[in-house]
Parts: sequence; structure tokens; C-alpha cells
Amino acid sequence: MAGVLERLELLLVAAVEEAEDDVLDAARERARALLRAGDASADAAERAALALAGEGLGLVLLEKRFAETASAVVDLLVTASARGNAAVRLDLFRELLGSHALGELPPVAAAEGVLRAAVAIGPLSEASLWESGERGLACLSLVGENAATRRMRACAREVLRKGLGRNPGRGHVHGVPVLRWGATYAALVFRARPAARDAALAYAREAASHLTAVVERERLLRRAGAHERALVEASERRLVRLGLDIHDGPLQVLATLLGDTYVLRDRLESGRGPGGHVRFLRAWLDDYALRLREVDESLRELALSLESQRLRGGDLGVALRDEASAFAARSGIDVEIDVSGNFDRLTPSQRFALAAVAREALANVREHSSASRATLRVRATAACIRASIVDDGRGFDVELALVAAAERGRLGLVGMSERVRLLGGHLAVDSRPGGPTAITVTLPRWEALSEAAVAPAAAAPAGR
Ligand SMILES: Nc1ncnc2c1ncn2[C@@H]1O[C@H](COP(=O)(O)OP(=O)(O)OP(=O)(O)O)[C@@H](O)[C@H]1O
Ligand SMILES: [Mg+2]
Repeated sequence: MAGVLERLELLLVAAVEEAEDDVLDAARERARALLRAGDASADAAERAALALAGEGLGLVLLEKRFAETASAVVDLLVTASARGNAAVRLDLFRELLGSHALGELPPVAAAEGVLRAAVAIGPLSEASLWESGERGLACLSLVGENAATRRMRACAREVLRKGLGRNPGRGHVHGVPVLRWGATYAALVFRARPAARDAALAYAREAASHLTAVVERERLLRRAGAHERALVEASERRLVRLGLDIHDGPLQVLATLLGDTYVLRDRLESGRGPGGHVRFLRAWLDDYALRLREVDESLRELALSLESQRLRGGDLGVALRDEASAFAARSGIDVEIDVSGNFDRLTPSQRFALAAVAREALANVREHSSASRATLRVRATAACIRASIVDDGRGFDVELALVAAAERGRLGLVGMSERVRLLGGHLAVDSRPGGPTAITVTLPRWEALSEAAVAPAAAAPAGR
């Protein structure tokens, strides 16, 4: 096993994106700790290498180069190990299932990752994950061109119907149930050569026990998604009502004001005003101003209630840039903006939350920091969306400020954190007297598998 950790590190450093260097460093630390804890014995070295390999492969699980990297890693581990190929592979697969990177993926990606890992490391040639949905059998994820054939579907149906512990596979196609509380929750179906059937079943069972949590999370998100759609529909109705409010309120007042203005003009032109033009004109203008103020107030109210609508469905990058340039104009503080990644699949609540946190954090920079520069950085990766607002101002003692803010009924930082927590995310306030100050919000990816999944009908190419 000598030198295998170093060779593995070289291999993984070359395969993993630079952006993931920190995670890989943590994995190397963990491997070294395992090695030390086992007194650097051969066993400990193998355990450490497996741990590092699992974490490292987790980082490239969804990349094109995964299969190739996995095969290089397997070769390295098998050559270095005194145990056989099959034992090393199965251990590696289990490490990969427990890897940090896989745990952080949203269900849509995690399910695909598990299937990919089983196909690349185990003796399975194709695999798909199925559940019975409202509209019949639905394929949640698949790996391989023939992973959703008629025979695979039939096998999935059988596993879902007969459930617990049955193995209805014949020939090359087999299935295992994904169980929860003893009931069949979903079905994992795969293809394997008859000679490799038992080994493939072992992989499928490991995968299935991991998929229970993934499918559960997916269902929760789907339910939350339905809830959110109901909320969006409610805002849709609110918009319609706002249109009516504008029409019946300020527009009506404006129409009468316009009418009165023409009457006044006619009277002034014809000199028919009641005696004392000036007195008459003043009284008229007072009334006019009063009604203008009324329009002004009602429009302001409506604008405030519309504020958050601006973001609905819009481009988050554009909205944040607007926010930052308005801030720079008001405060004279330079804001550098750096937005990268794909925000298409953010939910409306996530958009609102990100914009609201940016707005509130920038307001704090203006009011409290005496900073000369601020940076707003937003990144979307496969696992999460992370936004940070950093200023080079005077900083503050976070704990003291939070206590004082709570006593004074201030809601800025507390409100931000609550908003983010409600979305399953995390807010970090990092500051000290003398600065700098960084506010970082991390939101989980919230896309339900179902939206990316193969539609039931499309999942059935010609059977084999
Ligand atoms: N960027 C910052 N630089 C320096 N101090 C800050 C910064 N952000 C927040 N603070 C400190 O933290 C305190 C709490 O902020 P918070 O936003 O919760 O309340 P607030 O801004 O005082 O009031 P509100 O936001 O409700 O109008 C502030 O009063 C300030 O002392
Ligand atoms: Mg504030």
C-alpha cells in the first residue's frame, strides 16, 4: 500500500475542479488522520486510501470524466491491495455512497450519482430508479441507453407491486425495492450478466438503502413545490387585484382632476370665475394639491406592495445589479459585483430571499460600516447557491450587536437569518471590530427530481 495515498492524490488533483480544492484538501486531511489513527498499518493505509478515493470520486460524480477517473482509481487501489478486485470495488462503492459531496447534492443529482457510481464501479451495466406516481409508473432517474426499456419498466412495476424482498428479475434484468418503514417506496432496476447477478444484487441493495433518503427528500421537495406554486398563484391573483386597485383608486382621482383642470381653464379664459379670481384660484389649488397628495399616497402604497413582484421570474443577476447600482448612487460606496452560475431553476422564494438579504446587508454597509468598498458575490453550483456581501469598513462585535439589536427591536440581521432558515439555508455573519465584515448566505438547491425526470411515456424506448 506504500505510496498509494500520494499517487491517489495526484490522480484526484488532476481530475477535480480547482473550485473544489478545499473539499479535496479536507478529504486528504481525513485520510491522513485515518492513517495515523491506525498506526500507519497496511489496513489503515487501505482504509485511508478508500476514504480519500470515495470523497474524491464524489466530487466528479456528475462530470463526464467520472467513469474514466473511477476506473483509474479502481486500478490503483486494486494493484495496491492484498485483497481481491471485487472486495476493493465494493468497499470503494460504499465509501462513495457515504461521501460528503454526494450528500450535498440535491435529490435529482444525488439519484443520478448513485446510479452512475453503481454502473461505473459495480458489475451493473445500466440502472434506473422508478416510483408509482399519480399518473402511473414514473422513472425518476436513469443511467445507460437501455435503462428504461419495456422489460426494465415491467420489472420496476413488479417490484413496486410485490414489494419486500422479492427479486423478480429474469435473465439480464433485475430489480430491488427501495424500502422505507418496511414498505416499497421505489424500485431500482438494473441489467447484469447472469454470472455477475449476485454481485450486482449486492451493489443494488447498497444503492437502494442509500436511495431511501434521496427519494424521501425528493417527495418532500415536490410537496413544498406544490405549496410554492399555490403561493405563486396567490400572488398572481394579488397582481390582478392590484391592477383593479390602481384603476379604481388613483386613476379615478386623476380623471376627475383632469376634468376639473379643463373646467378651470375654460372659466379663466372666459373670465366667468366668481368675483375675486385670486381667492377662487387659491381655494381651487388647495383642493387640487390635497387630491394630488391622495394620489401620491395611494400610488406609494401600491408600489411598496408590488416591490417583491419585480423579482418574480425575472433575472436574478439583473435584479441584484440594479440593487447594487441604486445602492452605489445613494451611498457613494463602490460595489463590485460578481455573479456566476445558472439561476434558472431558483424558486421565487429563493429569489426574494437572495435579493432581500443583499438589500439589507448593503443598507447596513451604508448605515454602519463607513466602508469605501463593498463586494457582492453570488455563485450557483450544482449543490447550492451562495451569496456574500463583504465590506472593508469598521466591523463590529457580532454577538454584542445581535443582543443590542434584539433589545432595540432591530430586525435587519435577525430577519435575514430567519428568512434564510425558513428556506433550509444558512446565514453566516463574520465580523470583528476593525473589520472587515462578510455576510454569507447559502441556500440549498431546491429542484424536485420530477421536473428533470423522464416523463413516463418518454421513458419507454422500444423494448429489448
Ligand atoms: N456592515 C456593517 N458594518 C458595521 N456594523 C454593522 C454592519 N452590519 C451590521 N452592523 C451592526 O449590527 C447592528 C445590527 O444590525 P441590524 O441590521 O440587525 O440592525 P440595524 O441596522 O441597526 O437596524 P434595522 O436594520 O432594523 O434598521 C447594527 O446596529 C450595527 O451596529
Ligand atoms: Mg440594518
